[in-house]
Amino acid sequence: MNKRKFLIAGNWKMNGGPLEAAELLEGIKNSKKEISEEVDVLVCPPFVSLGMAVNYLYDSEVQVGAQNFYYEENGAFTGEISATMLAESGCNFVLVGHSERRQYFAETDETVNKKVVKALSEKLAPVICIGETLEQRKENIHFDLVSDQITAALKGITSNDALDTVVAYEPVWAIGTGETATPEQAQEMHKFIRQELEKIYDEETASAIRILYGGSMKPGNAKELLSQDDVDGGLIGGASLSAESFTEIISIAEELS
Ligand code: PGA
Repeated sequence: MNKRKFLIAGNWKMNGGPLEAAELLEGIKNSKKEISEEVDVLVCPPFVSLGMAVNYLYDSEVQVGAQNFYYEENGAFTGEISATMLAESGCNFVLVGHSERRQYFAETDETVNKKVVKALSEKLAPVICIGETLEQRKENIHFDLVSDQITAALKGITSNDALDTVVAYEPVWAIGTGETATPEQAQEMHKFIRQELEKIYDEETASAIRILYGGSMKPGNAKELLSQDDVDGGLIGGASLSAESFTEIISIAEELS
């Protein structure tokens, strides 16, 4: 099977200050001495732990990303962090438009697009998060919604730049709930997203962009999910806070590579 290289990404959310982050990273290093070149691994700690994570992982294959930033260059935006600052801190990825950001911090498709543009201009790979709520799925508008989200997020992005983006399909009803999309549901939506990417760009670009699944991925369901043709990795919340379960998922991805 000619699949894309897996990306296994940990979204720590508001967990892991510098002390806890050091412990977790040490746990990851200890339980996974070597990571195959076939799999990319990313951790996304909170801002205050990014510097230590970058330093701690300088000789490791594990990459560091942030969970958010503000799209302006600099200036009077108290409390905000810019893409330039993230790049300067050693991040190569940044999550954009996570459903919790959309739900609690009023992020919209428009702000997501501004962030995608800005991240790419700073050579940060944006992990664009999209996905429907349970109500939207029940109303059977989930495909339309996801199509609108991805189209808006990529507005004005060239196909060349789109190759540096990652998409994460995260059904909101599966995030932190213990409920996971079935492998069939995930594959169905991932395939749909790839078709949408093909409509926006072309087949070659669409087939090169990685589409991660997120929503209660854990060692017990990772194999089935990652085995799907259009699932190119995972964005993992809860299970990424345990070095053991996170590295187990990495090992599963290695086995499937
Ligand atoms: P979860 O979170 O794995 O805890 O469901 C995933 C995410 O929100 O990225």
